Amino acid sequence: PRCIWLTRHGESLDNIAGKIGGDAPLSAKGKKYASCLSRFIKHQRQEQEKSRRSEAQSGMAVSPQRERTTAVWTSMLTRTKETVEEFDPKDYDIKHMRFLNEIYAGICEELTYSEIQERYPEEYEARRVNKLFYRYPGMGGESYLDVIQRLNPLIIELERMTSDLLIVTHRVVLRILLGYLMDIDRSKMPDMDVHLHTLYCVEPKPHGTVVKRFRWVE
Ligand code: G3H
Repeated sequence: PRCIWLTRHGESLDNIAGKIGGDAPLSAKGKKYASCLSRFIKHQRQEQEKSRRSEAQSGMAVSPQRERTTAVWTSMLTRTKETVEEFDPKDYDIKHMRFLNEIYAGICEELTYSEIQERYPEEYEARRVNKLFYRYPGMGGESYLDVIQRLNPLIIELERMTSDLLIVTHRVVLRILLGYLMDIDRSKMPDMDVHLHTLYCVEPKPHGTVVKRFRWVE
């Protein structure tokens, strides 16, 4: 794609409580971000449309075959779905996919980090020492490496796409996708800063990838 937009979901009720995992809905602030995001992307599309029209009028269309739809991918979780609620399905090709779900924290789902440290001190320590390899115990529990692996088919599809794309996902998945697109070593991915209410625009260019970052200010 010409441009890959990436963001985490809007703030959820679990984000406020400091809990990981779960399937909480958005907070009031998270909903405001969601609505700002849909207006921002709509504006970007209108600008692109304007430049496409003026290229066509000048008779010097750089890319007349350009795909005009924007794909919007979210995870299967409530907080990402709610973040794209204001995107009109007539204008966007919206898909929800399990690949984009947050790391599954097994027995630590819906706990705060201090609760994990209290209840499972050895697990907490093991993860602190090696976050990339550490797999959460419990059925379906995942490690960063597991998530990297489950994202592989999606990355292949992403590279083949010709339309613009907005991905609304979660902290761990965003670290991995951004890390991959920016060619960052996987050992550094678990500690990357990816804040809420921040939108990344990644543009693959012949001389390398250009990344722009937009922060929402209320
Ligand atoms: O719910 C999951 C958290 O966002 C993961 O963040 O890998 O830095 O603990 P972490």
